[in-house]
Amino acid sequence: MMGREYMAKDIDHVLLDEETIRRRVEELGAQLSEDYQGKDVILLCILKGAVIFFADLVRAMTIHVNMDFMAISSYGDAVKTSGIVKIAKDLDSSITGKHVIIAEDIMDSGLTLSHLCRLLHERQPASLKICCLLDKPERRECDITPDYCGFQIPNEFVVGYGLDFSQKYRNLPYIGVLKPEAYQ
Ligand code: IMP
Ligand code: MG
Repeated sequence: MMGREYMAKDIDHVLLDEETIRRRVEELGAQLSEDYQGKDVILLCILKGAVIFFADLVRAMTIHVNMDFMAISSYGDAVKTSGIVKIAKDLDSSITGKHVIIAEDIMDSGLTLSHLCRLLHERQPASLKICCLLDKPERRECDITPDYCGFQIPNEFVVGYGLDFSQKYRNLPYIGVLKPEAYQ
């Protein structure tokens, strides 16, 4: 039997615990429900990192929401994004004339979201906003800020609640900082 400590042993410290995340996601859901009342909304999940956040956020919303999913990958090496985005799985439906909210796990340099927003704007949505669970403002390399943000965090590499290191730790229920020896 491998218990909770199996993955937890690689975590240096917990940055955001389950209860803290749950409360903030509830607030974001309530805010979006208020701001988008009466509108035709598409909540767009950016796979894979946003999947856990997205699943909790839609359930915290009290208005009708269309769900759609997009998988993107950015060219570049493991530590640095180039910002050039390749669409690995496109949306199922048209966003023209719709109010689109992008649900993303984290904004780091901002290059990925900035490129994605340019791509989506070409499809002429009625509006396009970004809702990020986490934001690392210190790392920004372009002029972009999330319209909705769960938490601003320091410049540390975090995993859990959808965020991965090398596809691992996405299923940790909290967000933690990885021990250096876990990625060396
Ligand atoms: P950006 O283009 O630099 O903003 O890259 C954002 C992407 O980098 C996110 O969607 C994540 O996949 C990844 N990323 C950035 N920081 C972290 C982190 O601390 N943990 C896990 N993934 C991260
Ligand atoms: Mg990601």
